[in-house]
Amino acid sequence: MSTVLITGAGRGIGLELARQLRQRGMDVIACCRRVTPELEQLDVRVETDVDVASLAAILDLDRRLGDSSIDWLFNVSGVMRKQCLGEIDEAAIADMRLQFEVNALGPLLVTQTLSRRMPKGGKVGIVTSRMGSIADNTSGNSYGYRMSKVAVNMAGVSLARDLHPDGIAVALLHPGYVRTAMTGYDGFIDPPESAAGLIDRMEELTLENSGGFWHTNGEMLPW
Ligand SMILES: NC(=O)c1ccc[n+]([C@@H]2O[C@H](COP(=O)([O-])OP(=O)(O)OC[C@H]3O[C@@H](n4cnc5c(N)ncnc54)[C@H](OP(=O)(O)O)[C@@H]3O)[C@@H](O)[C@H]2O)c1
Repeated sequence: MSTVLITGAGRGIGLELARQLRQRGMDVIACCRRVTPELEQLDVRVETDVDVASLAAILDLDRRLGDSSIDWLFNVSGVMRKQCLGEIDEAAIADMRLQFEVNALGPLLVTQTLSRRMPKGGKVGIVTSRMGSIADNTSGNSYGYRMSKVAVNMAGVSLARDLHPDGIAVALLHPGYVRTAMTGYDGFIDPPESAAGLIDRMEELTLENSGGFWHTNGEMLPW
């Protein structure tokens, strides 16, 4: 049976990925900071205290995983805070640093650490955002979120190049505009539709198309 490890699996899109991948028969290692009642109900292995902004926490997770191997790695954890031009004060700068640490450094450090456990044919999905597309930015604003997501897009392409010799493919994945806590439950789709598309994109991911940027609906997105 193949194994998937998911960060940010306590709620939102990560929780739904855990549910659907378990239903499809994968062994799921669901990582979160604190376990939630919804996650507890799933028949999955739960690893707590996985703060992706902390290298020590990621290394501790790696130690707890023992000799487990991982076929798919889904980096889902993320934070969004609003910053508007003219209002970037000390508090906003702290929020921007947090977004950079969670959204950009987090997936890079998790992938650096856990890709050593992945066999040839392994796949890494990084849940980014089309708000990290420079070409698609027609509305400005959201400085910290946009800057952190464009940074993770670049990290993802470098990971695709660096992990290619090991036979590991990497996808940058926009989940759609999804009704979760992050959006105040506004959006065009619900987590089940988003997660199903993300899984389809991972199924289609190969070493040949590694490093691409896709919408959950399959559309290729511009950088
Ligand atoms: N919803 C959308 O429309 C949308 C659009 C584009 C991209 N995305 C991306 O999709 C991903 C999932 O978001 P969502 O919509 O499911 O939002 P969500 O419901 O707010 O979930 C965010 C997840 O990230 C986790 N997280 C936050 N900070 C963390 C940290 N320091 N370490 C580890 N985990 C942390 C949260 O865990 P806690 O419960 O511990 O806080 C939670 O599981 C994010 O990367 C987001 O940027 C979402």
